Amino acid sequence: MSVEVVSAGNAGAIIQGIDLNQTSDEDIDLIKNALGQYGVAFFREQSITPEGHIRLAEKFGKININRFFQAVDEYPQIAQVLKEPTQEKNIGEQWHTDHSYDQIPALGSILVARELPKNGGDTIFINMFSAWETLDTDTKQLISNLTATHSSRHVFGAQAYTQDTSSDLAGRLSNTSAATQDSVHPLVISHPFSARPALYVNPQFTTKVNELDETEGQQLLERLYQHCQNEALMHRFEWQEGSVAFWDNRATWHRALNDYAGERRLMHRITVEGCELTAAA
Ligand code: SIN
Repeated sequence: MSVEVVSAGNAGAIIQGIDLNQTSDEDIDLIKNALGQYGVAFFREQSITPEGHIRLAEKFGKININRFFQAVDEYPQIAQVLKEPTQEKNIGEQWHTDHSYDQIPALGSILVARELPKNGGDTIFINMFSAWETLDTDTKQLISNLTATHSSRHVFGAQAYTQDTSSDLAGRLSNTSAATQDSVHPLVISHPFSARPALYVNPQFTTKVNELDETEGQQLLERLYQHCQNEALMHRFEWQEGSVAFWDNRATWHRALNDYAGERRLMHRITVEGCELTAAA
């Protein structure tokens, strides 16, 4: 079967003709290329096993064992993204870029659908290459040489909203003492695979713009977030049995919709280590 990469629209590409359980070196290069151009690679009708999932991830880099998520039994490399029928909150509902709080942020995650609700539970992605490209010239100039601080403390730490005892997330996210990371990254990065510039701030983990005073920095971040939350930059991925999404954290934001009360949704996620980020030229 021939391999095809088809744009999914505003964010991401659908890759057809690859069996994720047995990928060749050419397949891996093609996926990397798609990530560097489209930000997310979507696959359908896969029957990937946990072993195949781990093997695939290892072809992109070292697996990052998640500090905060529960792991799947017998597979410490695979994090469980689970919402039970009795639970109210889901994981990942706010717009975010995983691991931006690490000085060497993870490349991305490979999410495999294991159990889906009858309706709902889609994931929405925003294209951060396009977010950069569609900024006005003055804003591009203003932010090109700025850096931002990112942190995990307010999300996964002891005082975090995810640990609020009135929230049922507490059991699914744990290890609050590991939430000690702060990092500094350029606001506009050069994508490690394609060198395309991408906007690199996100509402969940970015805490401040280092070169501006508190008020100016927060106003700028708010303005950038408003700019990004535009349907023209988004793709809503509808999960089906056999679906897999591989997103690149350096080129996307994502959020998981929580619109399937009373139903179970179980996803397996493996995160792959990345590299230090550099400012776009
Ligand atoms: C996540 O943010 O990793 C969860 C995405 C999803 O469950 O769709």
